[in-house]
Amino acid sequence: MTNVREQLVVSIERILPGGVGLAHLDGKTAFVSLAAAGDRVRIRVDREKGNLLYASIVEIIESSPDRIEPPCPYFGRCGGCDFQQLNYTAQLSAKAYIIRDCLHRIAGLDIPDITIVPSPSEWQYRARATWQLDSSEQTLGYYERSSRNVCDVAQCAVLVPPLQSTLEQVRNTGAEVVPSDLKHLDAVIGDNGVSLAPAFDGFHTRELTLRVKDENYTYNAEAFFQVNQQLLDQIVDFALLDATGGAALDLYCGVGLFTVPLARSFKNVIGVEANPVATRFARRNLQHAQLSNAQIVTATVTDWMRSTKNKPSTVDFVLLDPPRAGAESAVIKGILDARPSRISYVSCDPATLARDLKKLIAGGFRVEALKGFDMFPQTHHVETIVHLVL
Ligand SMILES: C[S@@+](CC[C@H](N)C(=O)[O-])C[C@H]1O[C@@H](n2cnc3c(N)ncnc32)[C@H](O)[C@@H]1O
Repeated sequence: MTNVREQLVVSIERILPGGVGLAHLDGKTAFVSLAAAGDRVRIRVDREKGNLLYASIVEIIESSPDRIEPPCPYFGRCGGCDFQQLNYTAQLSAKAYIIRDCLHRIAGLDIPDITIVPSPSEWQYRARATWQLDSSEQTLGYYERSSRNVCDVAQCAVLVPPLQSTLEQVRNTGAEVVPSDLKHLDAVIGDNGVSLAPAFDGFHTRELTLRVKDENYTYNAEAFFQVNQQLLDQIVDFALLDATGGAALDLYCGVGLFTVPLARSFKNVIGVEANPVATRFARRNLQHAQLSNAQIVTATVTDWMRSTKNKPSTVDFVLLDPPRAGAESAVIKGILDARPSRISYVSCDPATLARDLKKLIAGGFRVEALKGFDMFPQTHHVETIVHLVL
């Protein structure tokens, strides 16, 4: 970039989906990383595409009232957190804006007041993590921002203490013990310890248990489990509300976090999940709860939707909790064809949520209730749960 570009000074207007700050200059739009609304900053343009500038802050000229000193020494280099520069109130209002903006721009929905339920802990909340390893550089941590280089992290301020201890134990393990082809390590906690996958010398893919709202769940690090366990009771409560009835579907059901309570309030439940490790645990979790009215199918939701087997003749309730990419078109079509009287959509990405809501609304559904949950403090990510009715 030219020297002139190095001198660009902009004012940050607000935080956008993706977590970047928005600024305008000379007819161009700038997306500025690690910014706060109200900052006046000198920026460096890292990338330019048409009228869009992707930029980093080189100097803060006037600091936003939302801005605080990021406490983590890796902040800015580590790709894990991108909101540590914001006080917690500003993080929550940025997340409410991000959801509102996606719903408005993508789905044409105007929801003025969006509540974000705060995380009970702003730090040390992360109960599941994926650590990256680079055996040639002898580094262990998270990917650096916008790169596949591993940022070597000795202390991660968002990890729950048992995961921080495990990170230290893995770091203190002799390089000769860690398999050289190990690139990622998944770690999760439960009431009875830590599980790591893959297992290696002295580190086990232990089975864990966790009690959530009077139900016991068993799982390990090879299956998905929610990152912030402190919000699980509230998430399960809001996702299910008081739904009861004949048949319910739990799509992308994981180890059955929602399937178990659904099986208590519906006559028949079908959970669909692609990961066979997760479905094995989901079946066990139902069995331990002595619930025989729920069936777990190991399949992609698209394949299950397209097949004619194991389909209830009518569906009252659909809960879906897809990964960040949202639900595939065939899944949305399958839900519209099933015409349940209520849908509960649990989403970790407001943009794909809005894309899918647009289709569901076009198919006759309307939004009845919506709430955000701050499952991921210090990052721009947010969980949203939406109830739709016909
Ligand atoms: C956000 S998690 C939700 C899991 C579960 N509802 C919970 O709260 O623990 C998404 C789940 O979808 C599964 N998954 C991803 N793609 C899938 C697909 N195409 N079909 C079925 N399951 C899929 C993942 O393995 C993961 O368990």
